Amino acid sequence: MSDEEIVSAKCRLLEIFSDLDDAEIESIEKWICSHSYRKDLEYKKSLKSSAKLLKRIGDSIKKIVPLEAEMPTEHITPPRVGDQADCDKNNSCHVDEFLYDEKQVEDLVKKGKLRRQFCFDCKSRNIKDLTFISHSMSRQALQYIFKVLLPRDLERKQILDVGSRLGAVLYAAYHFTNASKVVGIEINKECCEVQEKIIAQYSMDKDRISVINSDVLERQDIVECSDIIIINVLDFFVDEEKHRELWYFFKKHIKKGSYLIANRSMAETLGCLEIFEEFMDWLSICKPNQADNEIFFDVEDYSELYLYSIN
Ligand SMILES: C[S@@+](CC[C@H](N)C(=O)[O-])C[C@H]1O[C@@H](n2cnc3c(N)ncnc32)[C@H](O)[C@@H]1O
Repeated sequence: MSDEEIVSAKCRLLEIFSDLDDAEIESIEKWICSHSYRKDLEYKKSLKSSAKLLKRIGDSIKKIVPLEAEMPTEHITPPRVGDQADCDKNNSCHVDEFLYDEKQVEDLVKKGKLRRQFCFDCKSRNIKDLTFISHSMSRQALQYIFKVLLPRDLERKQILDVGSRLGAVLYAAYHFTNASKVVGIEINKECCEVQEKIIAQYSMDKDRISVINSDVLERQDIVECSDIIIINVLDFFVDEEKHRELWYFFKKHIKKGSYLIANRSMAETLGCLEIFEEFMDWLSICKPNQADNEIFFDVEDYSELYLYSIN
């Protein structure tokens, strides 16, 4: 770091400190002079390097999927109920958050490969922001799931991602946990091929990570022996009838004591399907298991991630 960069870093710190009162500054000073600051700093660095690994995997996936990361064989349709029911082909587009973070989206916009707005009537300034939809979890959300929500020790546990798509959840579970098995079930064959390629390219241990090309409804055996089940919203991929069928299936086959992670509250997902009341006693919301690590994340960004345990 040059002298100039150090001055610039000090300037940024002063900017933050100038908004604090004396007691808050004293508390920060104590933290910086303590051992825990060094430990926190090391941990933050390790998070940054694992984020880089996920970014590298994302960059490899970009080379083998279309820009919108939707496969030619897929039939992805906006849902008819729920918070995304107003999306259609004109007002929304798919930008995969695992492949493109905010900065990378900005680069695409600058290069003219992606537009943020659409024209309402083709000639005036009457434009609207497009709704960006991601079918994958972002790299930061994945870190939050495995470094904050779930327990640190997952030895002898099996993690299942329902609808593993490009494999984002699987690669993060593989690298960020000590779970003995990481399994993805994905109905689309082309998506499974992408995951298989990445698993081979990054020499992941196939005894620990695997992908099954199937409808999850056909694999109750896998669901029944999973300890952690991750479900990213399925609205764009199933109609309401199938969606209900899936939740009744999960209720029947996910074992008691398992964790369920979703990126929308169950009250909302099941409420839209008009079946929430039947599920109220089935699960309980849980506090993060590694709450100490919240210091490394901007918690507000992850308020849409929910951890439940099955009763
Ligand atoms: C929203 S994406 C989730 C991607 C991934 N889990 C993540 O969070 O990054 C949902 C995926 O579920 C798959 N899917 C939909 N219905 C399914 C079913 N019945 N069985 C297995 N996969 C299914 C879709 O093909 C799609 O790839």
